[in-house]
Amino acid sequence: MGTFEELVAEGAAVPLEGWDFSWFEGRATEERPPWGYASLIAARLRDVTSALDLQTGGGEVTASAPVLPPVMVATESWPPNAAVAARRLPLVVQAPDAGPLPFRSSSFDLVISRHPVVTPWAEIARVLRSGGTCFSQQIGAGTNRELTDFMMGPQPVGGARSAAVARAEAEAAGLEVLLLEPVSLRVAFFDVGAVVHFLRKVLWTVPGFTVEGYRDRLLEMHRHIQRHGEFVCTSTRFLVEARKA
Ligand SMILES: C[S@@+](CC[C@H](N)C(=O)[O-])C[C@H]1O[C@@H](n2cnc3c(N)ncnc32)[C@H](O)[C@@H]1O
Repeated sequence: MGTFEELVAEGAAVPLEGWDFSWFEGRATEERPPWGYASLIAARLRDVTSALDLQTGGGEVTASAPVLPPVMVATESWPPNAAVAARRLPLVVQAPDAGPLPFRSSSFDLVISRHPVVTPWAEIARVLRSGGTCFSQQIGAGTNRELTDFMMGPQPVGGARSAAVARAEAEAAGLEVLLLEPVSLRVAFFDVGAVVHFLRKVLWTVPGFTVEGYRDRLLEMHRHIQRHGEFVCTSTRFLVEARKA
């Protein structure tokens, strides 16, 4: 393993576009939710004629489905990722995460989204056809809070990302919630370079993170990992499926 400076420099140099976490192989692990989102959406995409993937990132997960419907549209707000996704998916539209969605009402049988930054429930309800469903794996409240707190000191955990809020917002948009399943997952980092890359990539974990601004805490993290072999935190996820009447 390299020195503190070498590891930090390595983590700081990794390109950020796309939403592929294979760089972390051997340097960090995240337990996967038991339900297998990719195969669940693959089964649903096979059964519909039109689908919309919101905030597709680099399009990696949706493009892994063996069969895409005749109408397959994705949105992405961050231009570097929109360009990456456009190489994988038939149609990628640059659109703001919070909406409005640039589609006519009642256009899609299925809306999917994994780990959206925000979920525009009213817009989802509008663009779904009657009887259509929204299927989404979401990041829950307090995800990786141990990492946030280690870097920033204790921070309040807001409820905005909770499963209960998702249910309330989906129902307020007129959708019927068919499924809501939460899970907590173990995350472990094995070197400080992996922590640096993660904080640059998943930028809402420590808002405003820079290597220079957090050098002291990164050195503490390096010492912690040297002592314990890893830094462990907990991510939270939930699966939600909702139907338009
Ligand atoms: C958490 S990502 C999930 C992407 C995809 N749905 C997936 O699960 O693989 C959600 C959104 O964050 C955006 N995002 C990622 N890195 C970003 C960055 N550095 N600046 C702005 N947005 C970013 C992505 O482009 C995407 O729209």
